[in-house]
Amino acid sequence: MPKTYEIRQVQTDQEKRDALSVRRTVFIEEQQVPEELEIDEHDEAGTPTLHFVAYAGDIPVAAGRLRPYAPGVGKVERVAVLSGERGTGLGRLIMQEMEEAARQNGYRKLKLNAQCHARRFYEKLGYAPIGDVFEEAGIPHISMEKPLS
Ligand code: COA
Repeated sequence: MPKTYEIRQVQTDQEKRDALSVRRTVFIEEQQVPEELEIDEHDEAGTPTLHFVAYAGDIPVAAGRLRPYAPGVGKVERVAVLSGERGTGLGRLIMQEMEEAARQNGYRKLKLNAQCHARRFYEKLGYAPIGDVFEEAGIPHISMEKPLS
C-alpha cells in the first residue's frame, strides 16, 4: 500500500523544530552545506516566511519554506525529503502544498534556485529554467520560475 503523509504549514514551535531537523539531516549532514548558510535570517521568528513539514506518522520526513521575494512573487526554498522517503511522490506533494499556500497568499508567480540534479523534478511540476548555472554553497544551481494559475 502506498505510504500516506500528512503535510502541515508550521504553526507550533515543535513543528518548526521538526522542519529544521529534516533540513539539518538533508542539507547539513548529507550535502555538507555549512550550517551558517543553511539556517539564515528568513528562518527567524517574526519573519513572513512560511514553513512546511511532512510527517509519516509522528516522524518528520520532508520540509520546505516559502517566502516573499518581490511584489506578487514568492520564493520556494529548502525543499528536502529524507533519503529513505524519496521517489514516493512526497517531494511533489510538499511542493503542491506550498503552491496552494502561495496562491492563497496572493502570489502570482513562484521562483526558486534549483540544485541542478533536481532540475527535472521541478520541470515536472511546471517550473522553467531562467539564466545560467551558478554556484551556491559549492553546489551548481539554476534559477527556475512558474506562473501560478
Ligand atoms: N531527477 C529526475 N527526476 C526526479 C528527481 C531527480 N533528482 N527527483 C524526482 N524526480 C521526478 C520523479 O521521478 C517523479 O517523476 P514522475 O512524476 O514521472 O513519477 C517526480 O519527479 C516527483 O518525484 P518525487 O518522488 O515527488 O520526488 P522526491 O520525493 O524524491 O523529492 C527532492 C525530490 C529533490 C526534493 C529530493 O530528492 C531531495 O530532497 N533531495 C535532496 C535535497 C535537495 O537536493 N533538494 C532540492 C534543493 S533545490
